[in-house]
Amino acid sequence: MSTNITWHSSALGREEREKLLSSKGVVIWLTGLSGSGKSTIGRALEANLIREGRFAYGLDGDNIRFGLCKDLGFSPEDRKENIRRIGAVAQLFCDAGAITICSFVSPYKNDRDAVRTLVANRFVEVHVDCSVEECARRDPKGLYKKARAGEIPNFTGISAPYEAPIDPEIHIDTATSSIEHSVNTIVAYLMHQDLLHVVDRPNR
Ligand code: ADX
Repeated sequence: MSTNITWHSSALGREEREKLLSSKGVVIWLTGLSGSGKSTIGRALEANLIREGRFAYGLDGDNIRFGLCKDLGFSPEDRKENIRRIGAVAQLFCDAGAITICSFVSPYKNDRDAVRTLVANRFVEVHVDCSVEECARRDPKGLYKKARAGEIPNFTGISAPYEAPIDPEIHIDTATSSIEHSVNTIVAYLMHQDLLHVVDRPNR
């Protein structure tokens, strides 16, 4: 518990910062089973946005667990802490004006909702939906095979729950939607919500 600390605000408000940077912060939260396609869509979305000249950056479950969250496992408590830390980092990226693409299994509704509360109206939840059977058929990392053999405890979809979003901003069925179509769906939503609007730079 940290005590005797003071929050220091930036000299710039959000509006002024985003206007000067021509970039709006937003958190795109991709949630779904392992193997559902979150990282693939997240990577493609990041590349697409950057190639269009936007400031985007992807945070990904496996990668974050190499560093920031390397001390955490997959118990409900550790996943909660994992998502809490990532939520805090995502909020900072969002505040910096980045299109922040977060790809995490994030199986618990309460943990995702806590990030939603933190980021408020800049949170876009994307359910990357795919059945356990299809994810297990794909099994890109061979984890379902191991989990079914009892070699991985608390494996989401096999021996641990996945609480699907009830009312996500975007729902993608990766059994039927191509990567390109999934990326286009997310970009179209951001445009429609005016979250990709690049404010003109002031005349200097
Ligand atoms: S989360 O549940 O805390 O959000 P996170 O997205 O960081 O999970 O990490 C999930 C990745 O860790 C999976 O894509 C998979 O590669 C790997 N993994 C290892 N063990 C497990 C497990 N027990 N359950 C789910 N994913 C696991």
